[in-house]
Amino acid sequence: MAENMQGMKRTAYCTEIDQSRLDQEMVLCGWCHRQRDLGGLVFITLRDRSGEMQLMVDDSCPEAVQEKAAKVRSEDVLAVRGILQKRSSANPSMKTGTVELKVSELRVLSRSKTPPFYIDEDVKANEALRLKYRYLDLRRPDMQNKMFLRHKITKVTRDYFDQAGFYELETPMLTRSTPEGARDYLVPSRVFPGRFFALPQSPQLFKQLLMLAGYDRYMQIVRCFRDEDLRADRQPEFTQIDLEMSFVGVEDVLAVNERYISHLMQEVMQIQVQLPLPRLTYAEAMRRFGSDKPDTRFGMEIVDISDLVAGSPFRPFAGALENKGSVQMICVPGGADMSRRDIDSLTEYIKTYRAKGLAWIAVENPLRGSVAKFIDETAAQRIISRAGAKQGDLLLIVADADTIVRESLGQLRCEAARRRNLIPEGLFNFVWVTEFPLLEYDEEAGRYAAMHHPFTSPMEEDVALLESDPGSVRARAYDLVLNGTELGGGSIRIHDQDLQKKMFALLGFTEEQAWARFGFLLEAFQYGVPPHGGIAYGLDRIVMLLTGSDSIRDVIAFPKVQTSTCLMTQAPNLVDEKQLAELGLSLTELADTVSDLPLPDISDNENEA
Ligand code: AMO
Ligand code: AMP
Repeated sequence: MAENMQGMKRTAYCTEIDQSRLDQEMVLCGWCHRQRDLGGLVFITLRDRSGEMQLMVDDSCPEAVQEKAAKVRSEDVLAVRGILQKRSSANPSMKTGTVELKVSELRVLSRSKTPPFYIDEDVKANEALRLKYRYLDLRRPDMQNKMFLRHKITKVTRDYFDQAGFYELETPMLTRSTPEGARDYLVPSRVFPGRFFALPQSPQLFKQLLMLAGYDRYMQIVRCFRDEDLRADRQPEFTQIDLEMSFVGVEDVLAVNERYISHLMQEVMQIQVQLPLPRLTYAEAMRRFGSDKPDTRFGMEIVDISDLVAGSPFRPFAGALENKGSVQMICVPGGADMSRRDIDSLTEYIKTYRAKGLAWIAVENPLRGSVAKFIDETAAQRIISRAGAKQGDLLLIVADADTIVRESLGQLRCEAARRRNLIPEGLFNFVWVTEFPLLEYDEEAGRYAAMHHPFTSPMEEDVALLESDPGSVRARAYDLVLNGTELGGGSIRIHDQDLQKKMFALLGFTEEQAWARFGFLLEAFQYGVPPHGGIAYGLDRIVMLLTGSDSIRDVIAFPKVQTSTCLMTQAPNLVDEKQLAELGLSLTELADTVSDLPLPDISDNENEA
């Protein structure tokens, strides 16, 4: 039978104890990490949130204690009283390895079944099993450290923005759909059958309305919901650090935010970040890194060699140039030792980004490679010197339409650097990407779509182009990128009604449709709007990068898997007929009547194509 804690009160966490407290009596509580019975001598490693402590029970301990200690199993919950003593043989791998608690009283507060996997640093269990028993997985010290860091980041963030004069205000979860570009999660209304709330993709419109309402500076750590295809850095529900400011321009927003980033890095990681943070315009990021989230921890920048291969008899080069495309390359330092198989595998990799092939030149004497024979000696020397290549480097070349060349080389650059271990560890390279295009052309729909969202303001100097050449208009929009991951993005908003209407028209909304969808915003905009702008960060992504995790699942206590399901609660799940009837819903497609979802094989598909 389980015992209680009456008369016993915890006096410390396991790792708060050190040699300075020798011979003192104390009470510890936690889980049995491991029990070793050496016959007449029992060792129990007790684990709590702070770490571990060795408990020792020998034949000089009370008999009741000896009897109970012999029966303690892994993951039983214990409360123990004892005297701290020096360990006869110290364990240097344990924080408390020089001391142990000699037990005078032992209570088993709860027994545990044998867990489906061992609670350990380097857990061997597959991720699906760990997620099914997430509460056990969360007991692992590694997960506890990540959750602690998550807490710390949230706390530092709240304190920083409080100090900077931001109000933390909440916005609704049951609301109307917000246009962030993903599919909405819908919640049926019981009171008005046939009508639906949407869970917010972000608090975008509400934070703008708070500016209109005169709150001047707002921030919120807020849950957002997007029904989209998941990847390692995407969850259907995730947390934003969301903020908005009034009477500001781009520079003001960036200034407050980079001070926040530098403060955060100092407080959480004890790393000093040099301010101002580097900046790249979108155009430059695309040109040099083939990505709007450039990883600047290593070189291997993209270099255009169209002019140097003009007139080359190599068909793919000539073809791309005839079609107004380009020929560009990256240089892999020391890459000439790659085997044909390695290069073939990189070729397969970039085909997922629509490149038709990958030409290569190994910088050796004589030159080697798939296109070496199509390039004359002078052109080759110029290519090598433009690449800044040395003996033993490998040039990887793609010819195609510009967008394909850039995207595929941008991805290849990162993949090749990963495979060849060319990314230095321990670097945190932040970069602002600015001057994003306002619009992107949606081939399928045959019209423009907002690149960020429809409330983003164009750059003053480009407004005139809105009618003549919408595709070239730049926005007052910015992203913060860390080591090749987009941490956050935002913009200065349109605060002028007429410009907002013009924007909706460009996006293909009739005046009527715009009012039907965003009526409350357009209405509000008639009552005095301050110029305003802001940004939102993905909190989960920040925690992922600062803890060196591979996936945001690792930094969310109860995450979902690729199928947007929760393996622990088995959500989403079936509901009663009665619940459906109350909502006025009937199902046209009958769900499977087995309520258990299958355990999926978890592996992230990182290819965006
Ligand atoms: P945006 O859509 O760029 O901007 O989102 C801001 C940041 O939120 C994070 N993020 C996600 N994290 C995990 N899983 C997801 N599915 C996911 N989607 C986005 C990213 C991203 O940079 N309202 C605007 C902000 C603004 O204009 O102020 C917005 O939501 O880190
Ligand atoms: P092929 O003649 O198609 O066998 O291609 C010869 C070499 O050129 C192979 O190494 C291909 O990967 C490469 N190649 C083909 N198309 C392109 C392209 N568009 N850009 C760069 N290299 C290419």
